[in-house]
Parts: sequence; structure tokens; C-alpha cells
Amino acid sequence: MLFKDERFGMFIHFGVYAQNGWHEQDQLRRNIPKSEYIKLRDIFNPDSFDADEIVRFAKDSGAQYICFTTKHHDGFCMWDTKHTDYNIMNTPFGRDVLKELSEACEKYGIKLELYYSIPDWNHKNSINLGREYHQLKEPNPGDEPNEELYIEYIKKQMCELLENYGKIHAIFWDIPPERRDKSVNEFVRSLQPHILFNDRGYDRGDYSTPERDERIKNASFERLCEACQSVGAQAWGYRRDEDYYTPQYIIAQMSKMLIKGGNYLLNVGPDEKGRIPERAKKIFSTVGNWYKRIYESIVDAKYYRVGEFDYTIKENTAYLHLPPACGCSGFILKPFDVAPKSATLLNNGAEVEVKVCFSPWDYDGEENAPHLHIGNIPAEEFLHENMVIKMEFDDISPFMEQMNRELKKDFI
Ligand code: GLC
Repeated sequence: MLFKDERFGMFIHFGVYAQNGWHEQDQLRRNIPKSEYIKLRDIFNPDSFDADEIVRFAKDSGAQYICFTTKHHDGFCMWDTKHTDYNIMNTPFGRDVLKELSEACEKYGIKLELYYSIPDWNHKNSINLGREYHQLKEPNPGDEPNEELYIEYIKKQMCELLENYGKIHAIFWDIPPERRDKSVNEFVRSLQPHILFNDRGYDRGDYSTPERDERIKNASFERLCEACQSVGAQAWGYRRDEDYYTPQYIIAQMSKMLIKGGNYLLNVGPDEKGRIPERAKKIFSTVGNWYKRIYESIVDAKYYRVGEFDYTIKENTAYLHLPPACGCSGFILKPFDVAPKSATLLNNGAEVEVKVCFSPWDYDGEENAPHLHIGNIPAEEFLHENMVIKMEFDDISPFMEQMNRELKKDFI
């Protein structure tokens, strides 16, 4: 199930805005009148777009699902919709991008989540509450804002999206409307009952979507949570002059989400030809490569923080999660004094040293007790990624008892 086994996804922001290569909200942010902006439809021709290649790349990189922008705030639809002619079939390209992606997802066993923007800067019935809602301030000339009719439009489009593109695992609404209307999610769920909704739509939904740095830092894990971040700092859609994050920055952020049970959606924006920029690809695959190696430590595992260290536990195995550039080749793991039968660094599969011993720091002091020590970690080889050490016990209960005792102490 998405959010259980599939924890790393590829977010794809792709639409006519890629033509300008500035920002996916080009129309609003540069105040481009609709009559001008819609001309992009007449030239958009991403003829190097290859859904098979993109989905294969996502899969090879370790992603297990894709979230695709079917319609962004500009209202342009990336599938063959009958309910507006402002769609991909009416470009020189003329191919149903969503169809191609959904078929490739089916072929490679990749799950599909659909992004759909509630603000719509093109549809005549959409409402205009201003920037705060990522909406236009004023209606476009000739518009007839009407919330009821607009919701009808959304429902009709949802029918197409949920009836013609295979199994859809989740809907990523974007920008909560002013007035929530529960009937929308109920209607969508009647089309595909298993579907999950995020919290940016017509009700509270099933999962939260902290976005970018600050919000990811403050994420809550009370319910399902899918953090989203882009490889680029300035935009989600393709940006010619993008500033790119380093893979180690992304990995560190992603690790914090994954160990606590969250999901991570990493975005790329194909360019006006439909190609994911090489630099974005490199970041994505570096991050995914790390994810594949540490995957077992975050699936079906419970998170604990003891002292200054993060652990995940499942069955008789404890995983120790070290930050990147952790600074040392060994650590004393207090309060534990039981050793696992083996310890392996998941990053490279190599054994690391583990034993219970006295630390010279403690030996003369009051705390005259031996502790679990993990050593000989090739820390200098892994400056760029979080290290995960797998400790396997025959019976983990003594370790857990010590852990629980310590946590209780913190609590008191
Ligand atoms: C924000 C932006 C939007 C982007 C989205 C991704 O809501 O308005 O441009 O698509 O974040 O989560």
C-alpha cells in the first residue's frame, strides 16, 4: 500500500509552463494576461517526451510511485479531457501525456498518484480569491465565476481521470479552497474506493503534505504524511536557471521523514522538450540509490530516539541512523549493554565492529558500567549520506527493556 511499502515517489511537474522555463506559476507571478499565456498551447511540443524512459528511470532510481500534475494552477490539462479544449491534445504535440505515463506505470509496477490544482486561472467558472489562495484577483475578461459549476467541472474531470487511467492510488489536491465541500472527495472515492486524499482539498483528507524546508522540519506524524520537495530551490516546474540542492541535503531531509514513518516525494520538472534535466536526474538517482540501500530499515519499523541517536526497530533488528558527516568512526550507545550478534553498515553491506566495553571516559567516573560500542565505521567514505547500521539480535528483548526504561526516564 502506498505510504506503507512505497515510501519514495517521483513528483513530476509538467505543463505548458515548461515552454517558458521560468516557473510553473508564470502566468500569475509575471502577471501574464490569459489571452497571452494561452498562446503557449499553440507552440508546446515536447517531442522528446518518453513516458517509458521516465518511468523506467524513476524505477531504476528506487522510486516506487509517481505523482503527476494533471492540471496545475494555469488550468492546462495534460490529458485528453472532453471538458475543456485547453488541453494537451490541442497542442502541436497532440499526445495524451497522462495515458502514456499511466501505461508505463502499469508496465513497470509503479503506482500513480495524481496532482490536481483547485485554483484554475483559465476556467471561466473558477473563483478568484487572490494570491493567498493562489488564485487570480480579478476574473479574466468574459469569466463567470460560479463555485457550483466549477465543482461540477472538477467532478467531471475526476470521472475521466479515475475511469480512463487505471488504478489511481491517491489524489494530491493543491491549495485548499475557501469553502470545503465534502461531497467532492466522497464522489471521487465512489469511483475508486481505495483512493487516498491529501489535506489540500475539500476536506481534511487522509495524509498531510508538508512542503519544502520549514514545513518539513515541523512535520507531524500523527497521521499519514508525505513530504514534498523539489530538486530545485526556485521552482517545481522546469526552470532554465534553476538552483539545485545537493543530494546530501535531500538525503538528510528525507531520512528524517522516512525514519518517522513519513513518505518523501521528490520533484523533477521536464523541460519544454519533455526531458528531465540531466542535473535533476543525477540528484534524483543519487538520492534513490541511497534509499534502495537503506530501505529495509524504514519499512514496517518503529522509530525511537534515545539520547542523541535515532533508531528504528523491527522484529529482532535495531537500525541505528547516523547523520551525514557524523564526525567519528565509532560511538558509545548508552544505555545499552547488550551486543547484537552482528552489525552491518547498510550503505555498503560491510560488517562493522560491535562489542560491549568500558569507555575510558566512564571508567573512573560514577557511571562505572560497560556499554554497547559500535566502531570501525568507514565514516570518511560516507560524508555525503546518512549511514544506517543494522544490528541483529537473537532476542532483542533485553535491548528493548533498556530502551523502554530510558524512555520512561526521559518522560519523567
Ligand atoms: C505549492 C505551489 C505549487 C506547487 C506545489 C507543490 O502549492 O503553489 O506551484 O505545485 O506547491 O506541492
